[in-house]
Amino acid sequence: MTKHNLIIIGGGPGGYVAAIRAAQLGLDVACIELDKSLGGTCLRVGCIPSKALLESSEQFSEIKGDLSSHGIMVDGVQLDLGKMLKNKDRVVRALTGGIDSLFKKNKITRYLGRGRITAAGKVTVSGSEGETELTADKIIIATGSVPATLPGIELDGDRIGTSTEALTYGEVPGHLVVIGAGAIGLEMATVWRRLGASVTILEYLDRILPGMDSAIATEALKIFKKQGLNFQLGCKVTGVTTDGKGCTVDIDGADAIHCDRVLVAVGRKPNTAELGLESVGIETDKRGFVPVDEHLATSAEGIYAVGDVIGGAMLAHKAEEEGVACVEGIVNGYGHVNYNTIPAIVYTAPEIASVGQTEDELKEADVAYRKGEFPFIANGRARAIGHTDGRVKILADEKTDRILGAHIIGPHAGDLIAEAAVAMEFGASSEDLARCCHAHPTLAEAVKEASLAVDGRALHM
Ligand code: NAI
Repeated sequence: MTKHNLIIIGGGPGGYVAAIRAAQLGLDVACIELDKSLGGTCLRVGCIPSKALLESSEQFSEIKGDLSSHGIMVDGVQLDLGKMLKNKDRVVRALTGGIDSLFKKNKITRYLGRGRITAAGKVTVSGSEGETELTADKIIIATGSVPATLPGIELDGDRIGTSTEALTYGEVPGHLVVIGAGAIGLEMATVWRRLGASVTILEYLDRILPGMDSAIATEALKIFKKQGLNFQLGCKVTGVTTDGKGCTVDIDGADAIHCDRVLVAVGRKPNTAELGLESVGIETDKRGFVPVDEHLATSAEGIYAVGDVIGGAMLAHKAEEEGVACVEGIVNGYGHVNYNTIPAIVYTAPEIASVGQTEDELKEADVAYRKGEFPFIANGRARAIGHTDGRVKILADEKTDRILGAHIIGPHAGDLIAEAAVAMEFGASSEDLARCCHAHPTLAEAVKEASLAVDGRALHM
């Protein structure tokens, strides 16, 4: 039986970041990960490989599209999909290897295998070389989530797959059907559309991107349609079948669709399989998440949980914040996550980014607010780079002017939202943001102008 101060089950963004922080704080840390690569879904089959493919496919479509307005004439652009996929794998390898180095630097003990809690303070690792018994004062569960599917759909890991398969298609599908218009569905639809597939997105709701500001989502829908993505909203998929060469998607009350591949992107579910929760009396909630208190502690003494497995926004950076807060709480007695300032980003073109409350939420909660908006078409830098779709929206409390939410659709929205998140973390008003000098010519000036617009004082509109 090997003893550590802290055992972390799961080496994704929640787990590996918690491990590094705990090591920095002087703990003897063990991290158990099933996969040979650290980094979890985010690095292996999520955020990073999808961003690599989004970047490659965007370059391809920009170059293949019309660059003549820039005075650039291009002929004979060709796609080498194999090379594009290899580049994505190289990016992933470099980053997962980077975490290995961070573990070595911080002297974190890595166990390869499945971790299962067997009693308070006890975990068994089952790997290819048999079982190892570990013991620790504290345990953090950071086992993440796995793709969800729908009744009537059996994933075959090939034609009918999840985002994992959609990151490795060996050829561009003639017709790809995507079920679900959330972040995963839209990002992967964008990749394969740009590479030449015909793409149909089927969404159960009558809108895309549930949870995002609805006016921004409506604007996004218009732009995506212009890019050639087909949408069927208010559409209930009842089943998918495949003959190995193609697929048939059955829809309630509408004609079936025949296509080459189906991507199921209807959300993710917590990963608690074979974790041994019952051995310490932890009961999951009705959706399968591990309940925790404000210190990220479960109902079992000395056992904590962070990241996707506890629910909330299923985002790598939310898991990282929780990992750090949890460890600091264990070691120092305090640690905190401000859930109101966690940004969410969809990496389509244009990008869509959001922090704080949406207009829909403020209306629902009957909060009096003022709104300032600024379109990228009136921003000099957006004009110069030729990406003028979208706008910035700042929402501020009517009485105090404190910023309640920021929503951006437009070029580099994912980077621009950081400014609003920082402002909100410091309790800034829209006046504070508006009075900050923003360099010219930058896209960030649109954030300043939207802040000025809260008070009806935008200068360039
Ligand atoms: P999601 O929950 O964001 O979207 C799933 C969509 O599927 C929803 O619009 C839902 O209404 C729809 N849907 C559900 N049942 C359906 C049905 N029967 N027929 C048609 N549509 C149906 O889930 P998604 O996109 O799979 O992402 C999973 C998680 O990963 C999310 O929490 C997401 O935020 C996170 N993620 C974040 C990314 C980012 O930050 N850029 C990228 C990828 C994922």
